[in-house]
Amino acid sequence: MNTLETFDHYVIANYKRFPVTLVRGEGAYVWDDRGNRYLDFFPGWGCNLLGHCPPAVVEAVRKQVGELIHVPNSWYTVQQGQWAKMLSERAFGGKCFFCNSGAEANEAAIKLMRMYGAEKKRYKIITFEGSFHGRTMGAVSATAQPKYHEGLGPMLAGFMYAPYGDLEATRALVDDETVGILVEPIQGEGGVNVPPPEFLQGLRDLCDQNGLLLAFDEVQTGCGRTGDWFGYQNTGVVPDIMTLAKALAGGIAAGAMMAKPEYAPFLRPGMHAATFGGNPVAAAAGIATLEMIENENLLERAKKIGERFLLRFQELKSRCDLVKDVRGRGVMLGMELHVDGADVVPRCMNRGLLVNCTHGTVIRILPPVTLTDAEVEEGCDILCEVVKDM
Ligand SMILES: Cc1ncc(COP(=O)(O)O)c(C=O)c1O
Repeated sequence: MNTLETFDHYVIANYKRFPVTLVRGEGAYVWDDRGNRYLDFFPGWGCNLLGHCPPAVVEAVRKQVGELIHVPNSWYTVQQGQWAKMLSERAFGGKCFFCNSGAEANEAAIKLMRMYGAEKKRYKIITFEGSFHGRTMGAVSATAQPKYHEGLGPMLAGFMYAPYGDLEATRALVDDETVGILVEPIQGEGGVNVPPPEFLQGLRDLCDQNGLLLAFDEVQTGCGRTGDWFGYQNTGVVPDIMTLAKALAGGIAAGAMMAKPEYAPFLRPGMHAATFGGNPVAAAAGIATLEMIENENLLERAKKIGERFLLRFQELKSRCDLVKDVRGRGVMLGMELHVDGADVVPRCMNRGLLVNCTHGTVIRILPPVTLTDAEVEEGCDILCEVVKDM
């Protein structure tokens, strides 16, 4: 039985997979079991911000697994404390709860908000059309996209959906039972949507005026992706709660929910947990990730690469009528087409480049921040030619 047949027999087919078995990754490249090499502009769906097998993370994990792999949160570990401190110092001085994925981080945020509002019977959370917050029942209920709700109803009660970027519509949803707002500072899965500049500040004001908690889902925008440590830092708007995952630990599974110290105690003992959350291996990888970003000046690099990508995409837009819009920040970029973009993905793959298509018409790339200038150009050349030939 080859690998594809083994999957057919033994793995639940809940993913659409390319008929390719990947066996090795290094930097911006992955190889399949036939020896084909791909330049990966969508490594790990955004988890491999530092490229495949970043040496600093590999080294930290190797060292850690030889010392202590897992102990539960009934004990202290040096690594988890240090990781939380490093994250807090780079963000808004919040406290961390660690888990293993973005959905879990958002579940923690939802629970914290509800426990904050419990005394006054406030439980409603406003989220936004086109959002994506994960697949667990709470996170998918928060995700205001009907296609992800099909066949799952009834959804978790208490989520109110507003159009992304529409402050007045958001304000109209606030009532006595509203406890908070959960929003991506840039929508990822929804099509790399950058909101109007005044939107996030407007949400902050709305929260302050009504005693609501403002939570930013930074699962995709966080940890250096946008050229700042966290996406909110470019906007001047500070959330009360922030959720992280994807790039948080250099490709090792990890998630975190950070809350301002005054709200953190609402997640009190016995009310929430994750057995593997903040385990020493993830923590060691997370620390190494933050150190590598700092030591190699990768926030600046994200900005620089991002500008080059946007320039290349804009050049293409000026020459090619198929391109409707180009947008993004740092190494989180989208090229919206006037036509269905699904075909772009296999065409790029056939030419050795991995990209993603989201929301039907948006070619999305979340390339590693470690790309060389030559790799940026190589990938852009392929992508631009493929789009031109569509
Ligand atoms: C903004 C955002 N939030 C949450 C999630 C869910 O993360 P996970 O798949 O790790 O549960 C994603 C995944 O794409 C995401 O982009």
